[in-house]
Amino acid sequence: MKKLIIGNFKMNTKPSEFKNYAMTFATKTKNSKNDIVICPPYTHLGVAKEFFAGTKIAYGAQNICEEPKGSFTGEVGADMIKDLGATYVIIGHSERRAKFKESDKLINKKIKTALACGLKVILCVGENLQTRNAKQACQFIRKQIDDDLKGIYENELDSVIVAYEPIWAIGTGHVANKRDIAKMAQTIRDEIEHQFSKKAASAITVVYGGSVNISNYKNLLTTEGLDGALMGGACLDVDNFAIIAKENY
Ligand code: 13P
Repeated sequence: MKKLIIGNFKMNTKPSEFKNYAMTFATKTKNSKNDIVICPPYTHLGVAKEFFAGTKIAYGAQNICEEPKGSFTGEVGADMIKDLGATYVIIGHSERRAKFKESDKLINKKIKTALACGLKVILCVGENLQTRNAKQACQFIRKQIDDDLKGIYENELDSVIVAYEPIWAIGTGHVANKRDIAKMAQTIRDEIEHQFSKKAASAITVVYGGSVNISNYKNLLTTEGLDGALMGGACLDVDNFAIIAKENY
């Protein structure tokens, strides 16, 4: 089955290093049947355009400004990344929520800005360990989905991917187990059904992220109800990431 394989570089590598990566990755994944998205830092998008144009690899940014343009020193607008050929943007990553104090309200605004610009949104949701231990994870995720997608039209959901990234699993080597991931994928669909429709719930793309790597990807990606994976650390190794992106699931 075709999967969506997404790499989030976070703040790693330099544009000059990314050239080699992009060239090698494009060659190695030429015959992949999966959908592949690479999200490097903004500074690498020109390189992505140069090496991924004409390939089956899509690329995107890890954030955008909630405003389309104007006096926002240091920010990057949705149509700027689009102009560089980006078709995706990650919004609401837990690192932005925690370290840059992004609220659900801000995330909701960013999603609307991205969709208005014609970008596809990779919306990250996920609970922390405390919430999980308190057995509040499902409730927490439902609220995030509800707040983040407020005011979005059902037909816009074609351009929304929900990435379930439990915070305690990101960069820790502790992956969620398949049963819990399947349960959360179903919870996400239940909330989409509640907010939109049954049709929207079955059509929405749900991926998992958090310590997916070369040793566990095969097992994780066969989780019921899961359409793909979002990887941080594992995407930095071009050989391993190409294997994951090329796999026949
Ligand atoms: P790791 O794959 O390094 O755990 O990171 C996951 C992530 O945050 C992807 O967005």
